[in-house]
Amino acid sequence: MKITVVGTGYVGLVSGACFSDVGIEVVCVDIDQKKIEGLRNGIMPIYEPGLEGLVNRNYKSGRLQFSTNLAEAIQGSDVAFIAVGTPPGEDGSADLKFVLGVAEEIGRHMTDYIVVATKSTVPVTTGEKVRAAIKASLEKRGVDLPFAVASNPEFLKEGAAIEDFLKPDRIVIGVDDEKAEEIMKRLYKPFQLSGDRLIYMDIPSAEMTKYASNAMLATKISFMNDIANLCELVGANVNMVRKGIGTDQRIGNKFIYPGVGYGGSCFPKDVKAIVKTGKQYGYELKVLQAVEEVNEAQKHVLVNKIKKHFGEDLSGMTFAMWGLSFKPNTDDMREAPAVVIIEELIAAGAKVKAYDPVAMKEAKAHYVGDKVTYCKDAYDACVDADALLLVTEWSEFRIPSWEVLGKLLTNKVVFDGRNIYDREYLKELGFQSYGIGVN
Ligand code: UDX
Repeated sequence: MKITVVGTGYVGLVSGACFSDVGIEVVCVDIDQKKIEGLRNGIMPIYEPGLEGLVNRNYKSGRLQFSTNLAEAIQGSDVAFIAVGTPPGEDGSADLKFVLGVAEEIGRHMTDYIVVATKSTVPVTTGEKVRAAIKASLEKRGVDLPFAVASNPEFLKEGAAIEDFLKPDRIVIGVDDEKAEEIMKRLYKPFQLSGDRLIYMDIPSAEMTKYASNAMLATKISFMNDIANLCELVGANVNMVRKGIGTDQRIGNKFIYPGVGYGGSCFPKDVKAIVKTGKQYGYELKVLQAVEEVNEAQKHVLVNKIKKHFGEDLSGMTFAMWGLSFKPNTDDMREAPAVVIIEELIAAGAKVKAYDPVAMKEAKAHYVGDKVTYCKDAYDACVDADALLLVTEWSEFRIPSWEVLGKLLTNKVVFDGRNIYDREYLKELGFQSYGIGVN
């Protein structure tokens, strides 16, 4: 089998590499010449655990190729996956120009039956737009070639993307063509470890499944953040409440951790987009509107606590910040709560000394610039800082030497935005600490 994957972002590159690893011939295509050159030389455009080894191994074997030439790549391909970006437009709806541009180009160059499967997260009805774009290109050429459109949303978590691809909970395929169904079945056979994990459905339902999944997960988080804030007010401990409710299998113990708000490339964008879709159809998704509002407010919770402790005016103060990326094991800074926290601290007159195991380069280049001092390690960030803020729960922050920190910090105060520290223990060591949803 041969496939083309268009777009070498998280989804495209991980999918392409994983497909090639089970023996499928894969061409990953991108318009970015520099990115393609880099990949040919073993340079990954993103940080994702395990990706470099996987890509390089399969590139060397010849099963995985990189190209900027879509026209050439799709020749002989059974499937062309569209995995390009869908940035949010000004109004919050997903911008489809890249997706439809690829569809048009496929129509311009295809010479045989091909399944065009969309992996990018796209609003319901995009499948039809993709079909129309391919058809229009074929008509312009004056040819009539058979093709099928499919929706194959991806449920990869950054930091665990390869594992998620190789061992998926489910594989959702929206399709309305029997031959395409057969091809997709063959393609995904190696990834169905036990039982039948392929779920076939119509195209709009598959498109909706992706939004509904992410919206449900975002809802769990905002719900828990709301409960956490109330716990503080009434004198309850959200860690206990979380355990108490998580043991009910209908609720489940995952994705109910309160924190400083969700970030990343998916949840914020997808929640906004589904709310927007609702509006377009004259329907108000009230729960999801609230999910977004709660999340925006949650990004300010840590600074509110800092101001409550030190006073509104933080001028002359310095804060050590551990973690910048929106979650551990990634250098992704998109919608990272750290950015909001930094801006708020600076606006209140404070200085920030930050450390993140991998995201500092990305933060400096595109999100934070020189607004903060970047430190060589976690302890360095704490030298003469007035307090420590834990923003992203990287493993290396979990068991620091409190003895050393006690000497480095000016005040023994910790603001734990992810509830990873044992507050009783910290108290014994003479530290004052604040968590989320705990007193
Ligand atoms: C998510 C989905 O999990 C994935 O299925 C989809 O394909 C893309 O979006 P990702 O954005 O990589 O993946 O990160 P995820 O691990 O889901 O975390 C999202 C955000 O939620 C992070 O900011 C994380 O810190 C936050 N989160 C997660 C919480 O605040 N509490 C939790 O209990 C879980």
